[in-house]
Amino acid sequence: MSKNKKIIIAIDGYSSTGKSTLAKHLAKEVGYVYVDTGAMYRAVAYYSMTQGLIDKEHFNKEGLIADLDKIDLSFEFNAALGYAEMFLNGKNVESFIRSIEVSNMVSKVASISEVREKLVEQQQKMALHKGIVMDGRDIGTVVFPQAELKLFMTASAEKRAHRRYKEMIDNGVRIEYNTVLDNVTSRDYLDTTRADSPLVKADDAIEIDNSDMTVEQTYITAMNYVNKKLSE
Ligand code: DC
Repeated sequence: MSKNKKIIIAIDGYSSTGKSTLAKHLAKEVGYVYVDTGAMYRAVAYYSMTQGLIDKEHFNKEGLIADLDKIDLSFEFNAALGYAEMFLNGKNVESFIRSIEVSNMVSKVASISEVREKLVEQQQKMALHKGIVMDGRDIGTVVFPQAELKLFMTASAEKRAHRRYKEMIDNGVRIEYNTVLDNVTSRDYLDTTRADSPLVKADDAIEIDNSDMTVEQTYITAMNYVNKKLSE
């Protein structure tokens, strides 16, 4: 494996396919920076909710677009955790942005072109020196069409909902499995059908269906592709 060669690893795919877990693990193994772009969209959704710009019935899109200059997103590396945490206007929002409430709003916010433009520009600047693992929905198609390695993660909706449900229950969240499944399927729909940068597999992406794989098996499969690419 060429230790000096630095590449961009783009990981896209459906929600709850273990993209973040995989991306974090790969980044740690090869000593790259990991960027969770979903956290950025979640932080914008959280901002919109706290400012009263979005709720179940209403979405003040113009208000959000007008506020975009007031939204400062940054990542700060947490050495104890081993990855960077999401900050919104200087405040650590990690504990807020993973809630089901934010999950239910985020796809709407992510469909706004002005939001995407701002976030994509920031994401592209993060990879000026390569050596990055970035996960999201449009990384291999829009953010880094030139990425050296593109992975596209899939799994059945039921398997993904079960994983997410278990994770939430383990974290003490009281929720019904069907609520989680509804969130997974409606996000799939919104993410794949939106006009701007829909979730789609890039032609040169490698698809990994991990419906019947453990986290470790998924990692080993992906790491083989990384090693192959680094030794080319
Ligand atoms: O990966 P995640 O579930 O945390 O992402 C949250 C939402 O953000 C997801 O429903 C779609 C959107 N998203 C996006 O549109 N583009 C990205 N690059 C990352 C996430």
